[in-house]
Amino acid sequence: MSNETFIGPVDAFGSLPAFVEVDGTPYWLVRREDGGYRLLMALCPHAGGEVLRTDGMFYCPLHFWTFDETDGVCLNVRDERLARRDAEERDGSLYAVGPVY
Ligand code: FES
Repeated sequence: MSNETFIGPVDAFGSLPAFVEVDGTPYWLVRREDGGYRLLMALCPHAGGEVLRTDGMFYCPLHFWTFDETDGVCLNVRDERLARRDAEERDGSLYAVGPVY
């Protein structure tokens, strides 16, 4: 069974990060360091708060954990990060691929 989900046409995302919902789960679609794409789950790993965006980073308003907007690493709590899912571009469309990790 293929584990991938259509996200949308690349052209629909003028600037990233962009909020998307994939398989009923909220994510931020971001650019990776190498120019590819990645999904960062928009649910806080602490206690499930909604992860929002401000000036070049993500944050959770419940207890103010903050996260890097490229790799989702937590900036103020060691060894924590947002859950990730890979994303790929094919023929002008973006797909979420593989498992959440
Ligand atoms: S639930 Fe996000 S910081 Fe506590």
